[in-house]
Amino acid sequence: MTPPPDAAFTTGILLVLTLLVFAGVSHAATESEAKVLLDWKANLGDPDALSSWAKAAGLCSWFGVSCNNTGRVESLRLRGIGLAGTLNKLDTTAFPALIVLDLNGNNFVGAIPASLSRLRSLAVLDLGSNGFEGPIPPQLGDLSGLVDLRLYNNNLADAIPHQLSRLPRIKHFDLGSNFLKNRDYRKFSPMPTVIFMSLYLNYLTGSFPEFVLESGNITYLDLSENDISGPIPNSLPEKLPNLKYLNLSLNAFSGQIPASLSKLRKLWDLRVATNNLTGGVPDFLGSMPQLRALELSNNPLGGAIPPVLGRLQMLQHLGLNGTGLVSTIPPELGNLGNLNLRSCRRMSSPVSCRGRWPGCTKYKSLA
Ligand SMILES: *[C@@H]1O[C@H](CO)[C@@H](O)[C@H](O)[C@H]1NC(C)=O
Ligand SMILES: *[C@@H]1O[C@H](CO)[C@@H](O)[C@H](O)[C@H]1NC(C)=O
Ligand SMILES: *[C@@H]1O[C@H](CO)[C@@H](O)[C@H](O)[C@H]1NC(C)=O
Ligand SMILES: *[C@@H]1O[C@H](CO)[C@@H](O)[C@H](O)[C@H]1NC(C)=O
Ligand SMILES: *[C@@H]1O[C@H](CO)[C@@H](O)[C@H](O)[C@H]1NC(C)=O
Repeated sequence: MTPPPDAAFTTGILLVLTLLVFAGVSHAATESEAKVLLDWKANLGDPDALSSWAKAAGLCSWFGVSCNNTGRVESLRLRGIGLAGTLNKLDTTAFPALIVLDLNGNNFVGAIPASLSRLRSLAVLDLGSNGFEGPIPPQLGDLSGLVDLRLYNNNLADAIPHQLSRLPRIKHFDLGSNFLKNRDYRKFSPMPTVIFMSLYLNYLTGSFPEFVLESGNITYLDLSENDISGPIPNSLPEKLPNLKYLNLSLNAFSGQIPASLSKLRKLWDLRVATNNLTGGVPDFLGSMPQLRALELSNNPLGGAIPPVLGRLQMLQHLGLNGTGLVSTIPPELGNLGNLNLRSCRRMSSPVSCRGRWPGCTKYKSLA
């Protein structure tokens, strides 16, 4: 049954009114987003890179800005364009639809404001390679949609807030190259969604962080250049079975390289250089045929190079410098066709080569 004409007319009017009201609200919202960005730009000293940021009406075509289909700002991608200033004057409440905030590679300074936690749609926050300083605000842990957090290469200090370990969707977690310390890992939760974890070049101490060990989907783990001590956990392969890349170099790990590591069937790249590892170059490394890189340099390992390393047919980098090895290179290593000269050169002088070692004479002439 079709409605009587006057009813259809009323419905039509209501629809038009609704659309007008909606458009009005949306327009006002866009204007306030534009105003906030223009205020921020003025605070950044009116940089040339943002010269397209002018008439509010063109907001969605401004450099680095993209909008969703109702005209709300969805991403701000302002990588490496020489911006300098702070985030203090950016009113975050104006951007309910912002999914991506990428300010990587600029010259921002000052604190990371806690108000960033009001960007409730945020999935990607990249503030890497700037001069941000002070502590990481624990409020960032409220960004429940955050998938990608990159704060590496700044001057961030103090403890890593344990609230970050509860980000429910986080996959990429990079706090590398800062001045972060750990105070108490007991408040941290496992991070089962994390795939990429880097805490490299900070001031982390104590033993292997438990919450990292409990974050079972990690494939890329970089804890290098800290002051982490104690053993490399035996349970590592059982807890982190998906590891492809593991860098524990430049720490204070001691004891033997655990034999259980051979169970890491997906591991391509193992780096434990410059620690205090002892007990020789373990034989089991020869049963990891998928390895592309093995870096053991500068550990008091001692002993001989096991001939089984010759089974690592995919190996492109082998670092054995400063490991106190007493043997010469076993001829079996001559089978490592993928190994390049540069890695050959990295071998220590006490290790001399003989026999079928490819590039052997070149190695000698370069040394
Ligand atoms: C655009 O953003 C507004 C404000 O957050 C939101 O209501 C709307 O659903 C978004 N549109 C799309 C297609 O995501
Ligand atoms: C890995 O991720 C999946 C899916 O996100 C999840 O169900 C699983 O519990 C995680 N595994 C571990 C060991 O945390
Ligand atoms: C891993 O550790 C090594 C030291 O062996 C360091 O030189 C290298 O830069 C680290 N790799 C990455 C990707 O950070
Ligand atoms: C290395 O480990 C040994 C014990 O295995 C210990 O005596 C020594 O102090 C450690 N050295 C460093 C530099 O940590
Ligand atoms: C090997 O290690 C020694 C110290 O153990 C160092 O002097 C030398 O520069 C290193 N060589 C290479 C190629 O890394």
